[in-house]
Amino acid sequence: MQLFLDTADVEEVRTGVVDWGVVTGVTTNPTLIARAGQDHETQVKKICAIVGNVSAEVVSTKKDDIITEGRRIAAWHENVIVKVPMTPDGLGAGKVLAGEGVRINVTLCFSVNQALLAAAIGAYIVSPFIGRLDDINEPGIELIKSVVAAYRQQSIKTKVLSASLRNPIHVQDSALAGADIGTMPFKVLESMMKHPLTDAGLEKFLADYRKTQEPKPVQSDKGAPAR
Ligand code: E4P
Repeated sequence: MQLFLDTADVEEVRTGVVDWGVVTGVTTNPTLIARAGQDHETQVKKICAIVGNVSAEVVSTKKDDIITEGRRIAAWHENVIVKVPMTPDGLGAGKVLAGEGVRINVTLCFSVNQALLAAAIGAYIVSPFIGRLDDINEPGIELIKSVVAAYRQQSIKTKVLSASLRNPIHVQDSALAGADIGTMPFKVLESMMKHPLTDAGLEKFLADYRKTQEPKPVQSDKGAPAR
């Protein structure tokens, strides 16, 4: 499973991609762009300069407007994937854009049927949201399992991107369910690498190494047998 960051923060992207070398893409949405405090185009271009596979979401809601906005966003950078909402207009526009060679991510997916519709327009990615299902007392991970199973059964090539991941358990469960991609906030990525035994083990190894660097006590030759 590829690990994507769900962020519009350039420093977080640089850390995950360049410093740690574990992140291969980024998803943004209007909420995350607003939090970054930059205009959409500037922020997306900065992120595209660091990593491929950058989902940028349209804010238009009518089919023709989504097509126009989607073309504009796609022209920003070759790494852009245009995110359209799971609505009739979003699907219709996504189909046109996909036909023009634009990679489409259908977002706000909450059912297997919606995922089948995303595949039907030739979407590159479908984004089932698991955290938001958990929030309303529906087990989100079951949706990932079902979408993966339906896609496998139907030999569908659209990638399943497990979205709205809120904790490290969501990440490992998504991988076990067969998701192609998991997208997560930076703090969840950080929490994936934490384990108390790793910290304790490293501390012990370093302490033992330091002991080998300490000067050896000088041996006295008093009492040694005469030669
Ligand atoms: C990603 O594409 C989604 O926009 C994101 O994962 C939503 O996460 P949230 O439900 O935590 O806002």
